[in-house]
Amino acid sequence: MMTPPKRAVYLVSRNIHKYLEARQIFLAHGLNLVLLRVKALEIQSENLEDIAKFRASYAAENWGVPVISEDAGLFVDALNGFPGPYSSYAYKTIGCRGILRLLEGVENRRARFRSAVAYCPGPNKQPLCFVGETLGRISTEERGSHGFGFDPIFIPEEGDGRTFAEMTRGEKNRYSHRAKAMRKFVKWYLGAVRSE
Ligand code: IMP
Repeated sequence: MMTPPKRAVYLVSRNIHKYLEARQIFLAHGLNLVLLRVKALEIQSENLEDIAKFRASYAAENWGVPVISEDAGLFVDALNGFPGPYSSYAYKTIGCRGILRLLEGVENRRARFRSAVAYCPGPNKQPLCFVGETLGRISTEERGSHGFGFDPIFIPEEGDGRTFAEMTRGEKNRYSHRAKAMRKFVKWYLGAVRSE
């Protein structure tokens, strides 16, 4: 049987983009992140934190390793926060074009991405959660070919006017909701490991 490497943290996800974005941040802090590419049991909830915590606990319980799980969503002001926790379903059904169509002629294009990163150290342990948020706006057309999901229509406020999909992974990591939540986790984790 394979022995898991010491100090490695596992990301339970089936999204390679999420993994590569998170890994870049882990590596920058000298930490290793391993992809646990399995299908974990999911709960239906409108709360990103609850979804991430449940998935992290489930994976830690079943695979016996320290796990992080991330859940994210795009919240559009003019649509009262839609698609929010339903972002995955909205992406699969109406996609970027559907969101652009819903916002046709709408002046208020403010939106935010939110990310919840949950960490569960092992079986029977309580998960912790770290959140990140990025304010921005929805573009009027799809732009760029990097990244995934709604990246081609999201312009972060702190950026230079390009969509996430027009940025390299490193550039997206400067501003993204996921990067902010991951950095909070990494800071906490390094502190926790040091005091062990
Ligand atoms: P998930 O449940 O965390 O996988 O995220 C739900 C959906 O939100 C994904 O299927 C994507 O469409 C969208 N999403 C989450 N994070 C991002 C991101 O960083 N860029 C673009 N779309 C994202």
